[in-house]
Amino acid sequence: MVKVGIIGSGNTIGIARSHIGAYKCCPDVQITAVYDLLDGRAQGYIEKMELADAKACASLEELFSLCDAVSICTPNCTHVELAVAALKAGKHVLCEKPFAPTPAECDEAIKYAKLSGKVAMIGLCYRDIPGFVYMKKLLDEGKLGKIYFVREEQGGDRIAHPDVKLEWRMQKDLSGPGALADFGSHMMDICDYLLRDHCGKIMEVACMQDICIPEREIIGKPGKMGKVTNDDVACWICRTESGTLYNFTASRIGATFMLEIVGEGGKMIFNGDRPFELTLQLKELTGGYASRPEVVPVPEECFGGDENAPRIPFAINFYYEIRQFIDAIEKGEESLLTFERGRYIQTLIAAAQEAADNAEHVYILDDED
Ligand SMILES: NC(=O)c1ccc[n+]([C@@H]2O[C@H](COP(=O)([O-])OP(=O)(O)OC[C@H]3O[C@@H](n4cnc5c(N)ncnc54)[C@H](O)[C@@H]3O)[C@@H](O)[C@H]2O)c1
Repeated sequence: MVKVGIIGSGNTIGIARSHIGAYKCCPDVQITAVYDLLDGRAQGYIEKMELADAKACASLEELFSLCDAVSICTPNCTHVELAVAALKAGKHVLCEKPFAPTPAECDEAIKYAKLSGKVAMIGLCYRDIPGFVYMKKLLDEGKLGKIYFVREEQGGDRIAHPDVKLEWRMQKDLSGPGALADFGSHMMDICDYLLRDHCGKIMEVACMQDICIPEREIIGKPGKMGKVTNDDVACWICRTESGTLYNFTASRIGATFMLEIVGEGGKMIFNGDRPFELTLQLKELTGGYASRPEVVPVPEECFGGDENAPRIPFAINFYYEIRQFIDAIEKGEESLLTFERGRYIQTLIAAAQEAADNAEHVYILDDED
């Protein structure tokens, strides 16, 4: 039995809920502790989430004394400090994305992950969305041949209302970039993961951003407005080693979730509203389009095989992320979602941010990962 502690219960999105939902599907896991910086929040949360075996902890030290592993579900600027503390205490760590506001900040956590020998995973959990698993299978079978271009859009609409207050994620010092990092971390992880073998690494990036709602009310200060200091919307284009263009749009004030990959073998479209399906329009590598696009279900083999996995959109990929974490702890199975991978993705985000700040193309010479 792996005993898990949750750090950060939730105030805005509350992603800890998705971690807890997934842990609850694992018969070999017990959630034993919850800690939140704000007094009293952990106890109320334990009751709400019906965590019968969990204690509301008054300190991180108390949480560490009650668990083998932690999920870090707190704002981006706290991830590294909390990960280092957990690793020093001998705990396995699953840390939410984006890893940190800047790539350099990740190094401290990577150092302690190596020193401790504990499992250290970053929560880039979209890879296990069934539609993406199927896309990878088709790509690796060579169905699309040479890739011509890729288009991905992602985001959310929770904070589209201008009355939503000034959250930590809207402030550069607490979050790093805005939509660019929040959604862009998943977006670039997915594209690079699916396409690295076909298109090579991302080598060049150009980016523009906009802050559409520039002021919001400060939490706890009725009527007092504060500035939003990072992007609501980011549009960026990357070129890979093979010359392929990836075109990304991330928005936190209303967005569509889709990924389109076009190649000499036709096109595949993932629609985030229907993650158990793909739209395919395949053709001969050397010919033209001879059929209409067709919606096909993701085959069972791409997401089945584990009877504990919830067949529910997004719960299923959080489950597979958490399962990887627990299997790495219990069986020593290696996860691809290493802290180094988390840092590499931050390198791509930092390059896009630099491109936007300086209105220039940025070339990524960093040969990590
Ligand atoms: N994987 C995904 O798809 C996904 C989705 C949403 C959010 N996230 C990530 O999850 C993280 C949390 O986001 P959220 O929207 O759930 O946050 P949130 O604002 O809902 O909750 C954060 C909680 O952490 C607590 N907290 C802050 N600093 C702390 C500290 N030092 N120690 C303990 N508790 C602390 C806060 O009091 C709050 O309860 C972010 O990094 C975010 O980018 C990931």
